[in-house]
Amino acid sequence: MGYQVTSPVHRYLKQQQELFGDNLYLSSPDNIFAGVSQGENDKIDSLSDFNAEICHCQKCPLGKTRTNFVFGVGDPKANLMLVGEAPGEQEDMQGEPFVGRAGKLLDKILRAIGKYRDNDVYIANVIKCRPPNNRDPLPSEVEKCEPYLQRQIDLVKPKLIVALGRVAGKTLLKQDIPLKDMRGQTYDYSGTPLRVTYHPAALLRNPGLKAPAWEDFKLIRDFVNN
Ligand code: URA
Repeated sequence: MGYQVTSPVHRYLKQQQELFGDNLYLSSPDNIFAGVSQGENDKIDSLSDFNAEICHCQKCPLGKTRTNFVFGVGDPKANLMLVGEAPGEQEDMQGEPFVGRAGKLLDKILRAIGKYRDNDVYIANVIKCRPPNNRDPLPSEVEKCEPYLQRQIDLVKPKLIVALGRVAGKTLLKQDIPLKDMRGQTYDYSGTPLRVTYHPAALLRNPGLKAPAWEDFKLIRDFVNN
């Protein structure tokens, strides 16, 4: 097969072709998409179309050094969108955000507030390609990549964005202040509420931060569930 079958429409047509050959027997759209609203289908299609559109990006030098472009993962209609800084080594290798040690801890924290990475949560990074040796993203890289994140936010339309760590917080808030001063408030990111909490890698380095992070996540849970 020369292309990937990603959208429900493609999958449906492929299945029909396998069952009936090249003759197309159309049923009403209500039957085709039973259980999935057209709005949800549009969101799934738009996100995967957008990924296909930008995944070969060469707007900054990280395009040359990446293994995989790490677009984002999760529920296209999530109420909660988590934004990290940039892919690390594991994420670069697997093409998915937060799959390394920090990601495993993030999954545990999400479970503790009754959420899962593919159910009511969408996860992305400010930068879609791994900076060499995991250095902080450069302002020039952020400038090129942040519009991609903005478009993902426009498509998902989450109720709340949570920036994970100082670098993501600084980028989204456009303020370079200590992380402890970014926490504890709800900001506005182009019309979407935004909160900032610790990066899970910081919790691995300093387990003493787990208690305040848990306070943040309880507020996050209440915000998105109410
Ligand atoms: N750290 C991040 O900020 N993002 C990832 O995807 C992985 C680790």
